Amino acid sequence: MMHRTFVTMIAVVVAACLFHVASADWLGLNFNPFFDFNRQSTALIKFYEETQGATKWPNQFRGGWASQTPCAWDGNERAHPAPWGTRCVTGGWHQPPPRGDGGLLFLEHYSGFAEGPVPREFDAFQMTDVIGLGHNKLNGPIWDTQYHTFLHRLDLAHNQMSGTLPDNFMKRNTIHCELVNLYDNQFTGSIPAIINTLKPLTAFLLGKNQFSGTVPDISNLKRLRHLDLGDNQFSGTIGPWLKELDNLAWLFLQNNQFTGTLPELPPRVSRVLIGQNKWTGRIPESYGSLGYLRVFNCTGCQLECPTPNFLQHVYFSTHCKTPKW
Ligand SMILES: *[C@@H]1O[C@H](CO)[C@@H](O)[C@H](O)[C@H]1NC(C)=O
Repeated sequence: MMHRTFVTMIAVVVAACLFHVASADWLGLNFNPFFDFNRQSTALIKFYEETQGATKWPNQFRGGWASQTPCAWDGNERAHPAPWGTRCVTGGWHQPPPRGDGGLLFLEHYSGFAEGPVPREFDAFQMTDVIGLGHNKLNGPIWDTQYHTFLHRLDLAHNQMSGTLPDNFMKRNTIHCELVNLYDNQFTGSIPAIINTLKPLTAFLLGKNQFSGTVPDISNLKRLRHLDLGDNQFSGTIGPWLKELDNLAWLFLQNNQFTGTLPELPPRVSRVLIGQNKWTGRIPESYGSLGYLRVFNCTGCQLECPTPNFLQHVYFSTHCKTPKW
């Protein structure tokens, strides 16, 4: 009796494990994907229609977009070639989930003429590597990004998108997220704390928007090379976490409402644009021993130098350097 219960228990455990493997766990997903080809097709069709593909996109960008069955999810690529600027894969190594990582792999459109909102159905692009839609005329809010799991590059720069970044921004994209470029849009609200979990980020570009609030601790982003928060309405002080960004080279904080004394800078920083803020006090002495510092631009800042000319060796500095004529 005892024995039979035990065997049943083992069988249940094994079955549960098998089920777990058969679900998306091995893909690094901690959720069951609602993987839906129809929703991906709808997203592409709506993107073409709502950004006025037929009338606004230049001719050479329209190939394959008018199809009602884009991306050949039926395997017939001859009948349904992938729309121009996309790459859709459902064969070979890229079987559809849960067996593989098939689906839309790339979506790039840089014509400059895509004009309108981005469909909310973009949340179906769970396996997508690259979404590049910069330099267009896109507007409206960003879609629900929490289901992306393989998105290396998100480039929406130079558009007119608006709204806030929610607390679950890129929630499941913690292994692959390298670029978030929202530069030059109309986004508002503060930076969600979840950004600090996107460890592979090398560039986080929010410049030229209407973001506000204080900047959260992002010291986990050890690969970050370029942080651009310039030309927004950020306020408060920058915490001591900044100096822990071991690979940060370019730091742009100019034209905000930052207050307090200047933060300690990370060791490899080379280009520092932090002017047009409300910094006060004395420039930290440590700036004098930053070996990579080439440009220190604090235009409009009323700051004291710890010793005269202590940034004399820096190639360009608005402070603590006497120009040589
Ligand atoms: C310094 O920064 C200001 C913005 O704060 C910018 O307008 C100016 O062009 C910069 N100067 C140099 C030489 O980089």
